[in-house]
Amino acid sequence: MSTKPHKIIIAIDGYSSCGKSTFAKAIAARLGYIFIDTGAMYRAVTLYALEHGAIRSGIVDEEEVVRLLKEIQITFRFNPERGASDIYVNGDRVEGKIRTIEVSNCVSAVSAIAEVREMLVRMQQEMGRRKGVVMDGRDIGTVVFPDAELKIFMTADPKVRAQRRYDELTAKGDKVSLEEIEQNVRDRDYQDMHRAISPLRQAEDAIVLDNSQMTVEEQMTWVMEQIEQRTVTI
Ligand code: DC
Repeated sequence: MSTKPHKIIIAIDGYSSCGKSTFAKAIAARLGYIFIDTGAMYRAVTLYALEHGAIRSGIVDEEEVVRLLKEIQITFRFNPERGASDIYVNGDRVEGKIRTIEVSNCVSAVSAIAEVREMLVRMQQEMGRRKGVVMDGRDIGTVVFPDAELKIFMTADPKVRAQRRYDELTAKGDKVSLEEIEQNVRDRDYQDMHRAISPLRQAEDAIVLDNSQMTVEEQMTWVMEQIEQRTVTI
């Protein structure tokens, strides 16, 4: 009989600004797993496209983005201060630049490009090869790891989500309006659910977590029970 629980893959999908990354990061820290924020990867590609002229006045030049992909190298490096990995593009740390409203407004269009998804999905699958990962995104339980042992689909009231993102951005000193954020949250939900490739949807075997009225601690208690059921080794 083994006493050590075996490692699993935990896939967390759901709508924008549900707190997926915060939740995934906390689970990974509790279990000693690797946390991978796949939204950061799509954001990093979007930032690069913005900085290299492939997006002008909010219009995404898909061919140009695909051309740029060849020169984009994404890596993660653990940052002990954050207790999570920072994302780098071609050796530059871009963690602080990828969550602006400008990037948020263009990221859904960039993430709808087939070649972008192929490149990033391949990287994500490689990162989870040895299990022991918590990955959050939109297509983790459906496309990246359809065999993940635990799939969670997170949702929350759009108004609650907009308020959370607003608090986060204003705390950093960004000048944004709550209406603008709520519009962005709703637009991204729509675009992520209606894109042709790997649209956001709940995997059949995912369990739903609506955290509109839940604290992080309540969510942790809930998820640890789910994990325990899936990692018991006899
Ligand atoms: O999780 P986030 O809000 O940082 O993600 C940013 C965008 O990236 C999101 O609007 C859709 C896209 N995305 C995706 O298409 N697939 C993923 N696995 C993760 C994010």
